[in-house]
Amino acid sequence: MSKYIVLGAQWGDEGKGKIVDLISGKMDLVVRFQGGANAGHTVVIGDKEYILHIIPCGIISGHAKNVIGNGCVVDPLIFCEEVDYLSSKGINVTPDDLFISSQAHMVTPIHKFLDRMLNTKIGTTGRGIGPCYVDKVQRTGIRLNSILDGSFIKTYLEHAQMYKQIIEQAPSKISINLDESLEQLKAAAERLYPFICDSVEIIYESVQKGDNILFEGAQGTLLDIDHGTYPFVTSSSTSIGGAYTGSGVFVEFDKRIAIVKSYTTRVGEGPFPTEQDNKIGEQLRKNGNEFGATTGRPRRCGWLDLPLLKRSFIINGFNYISLSKLSCLSGFDKIKAAVKYDDKFHPIYKDFPGWNEEIEGITDIDKLPVNCRKYIDFIEEFLEVPVGMISTGPKRKDIIFKEPLW
Ligand code: IMP
Repeated sequence: MSKYIVLGAQWGDEGKGKIVDLISGKMDLVVRFQGGANAGHTVVIGDKEYILHIIPCGIISGHAKNVIGNGCVVDPLIFCEEVDYLSSKGINVTPDDLFISSQAHMVTPIHKFLDRMLNTKIGTTGRGIGPCYVDKVQRTGIRLNSILDGSFIKTYLEHAQMYKQIIEQAPSKISINLDESLEQLKAAAERLYPFICDSVEIIYESVQKGDNILFEGAQGTLLDIDHGTYPFVTSSSTSIGGAYTGSGVFVEFDKRIAIVKSYTTRVGEGPFPTEQDNKIGEQLRKNGNEFGATTGRPRRCGWLDLPLLKRSFIINGFNYISLSKLSCLSGFDKIKAAVKYDDKFHPIYKDFPGWNEEIEGITDIDKLPVNCRKYIDFIEEFLEVPVGMISTGPKRKDIIFKEPLW
């Protein structure tokens, strides 16, 4: 029986959804432990595409139980939208297969309003994530257990008072209607009610039984509130430490899987040393269809940054790499990867000869072009961790297993 954790090793959008879904088919339990609906996991099965924001990917397999842990922040309105969206795709979400921690915090319309008003420099997803975690940390937040006794309504009205000045200053296009938003929140909270539980018990029982368990990370290590490119980060612990604080259960992970995109992308503001704000970046964006699953924003694109990845590997103790979107590098004459920085913090690159062959859908490592193999081998050597899986396309079957996963 195995315990897995899957984390983004870069700035998010590494292609975790596909790998998480692939693994979750064999899992008994899938746990989300940080973040909220700022995540956007795209899963393609057959000709159906699913985009999930807050509900763990295990829901699609129909077999696994799913947990939204205490480290997460849950927007009842988006939760209901996601349940309805899944239902329209034939997937029923019930309290028998989804368990939401009573200690997780509620993202309210006021948080989303504050995000739009205050966090403009960061380029957030606008999902109210930062302001919700601010309330959590300053001990004025709304835990989901307050849905059980209805006390969230009182706290919501207190928030309206607390943030009165900002609310009154808002330009009309950002403004919030407090009465209307409270009514919407009450209706959504009622639907959320049956899912709320002590999720620690669910996870612990599963560990005790020796179940197969997957911890599903969201965003990426370089967006971690402590270890990321602060202040251009998200507001939760996206690295392995978050799995422990955000679930409340010690789990010994057999496989700590790094999802590494074959190049680098980021959305929103912040440093990005290997960014290619030029034709190369445009080509990467086109090849990789690099537009945000949550916001639709075009992603900034650039070459692989191995020193940054090394840091990410130190933080997370990764022991398995899943390399994604390799097929998007086909057609470049030359591929680059940063291998160190100079004293002005400019990246120094190593050049790799490119390949022209289309590799989409290849499942056999021996069928990859030689230059492509060389690129993979170098990543492996640099990071001193085996590349176990290589994703060669968006479909579930577009994958090469180089090292066993099970
Ligand atoms: P927030 O998480 O909405 O507060 O946004 C903070 C920063 O994290 C912004 O730069 C976002 O673009 C980025 N971010 C948040 N969630 C994701 C994600 O799932 N993928 C990639 N970037 C993200």
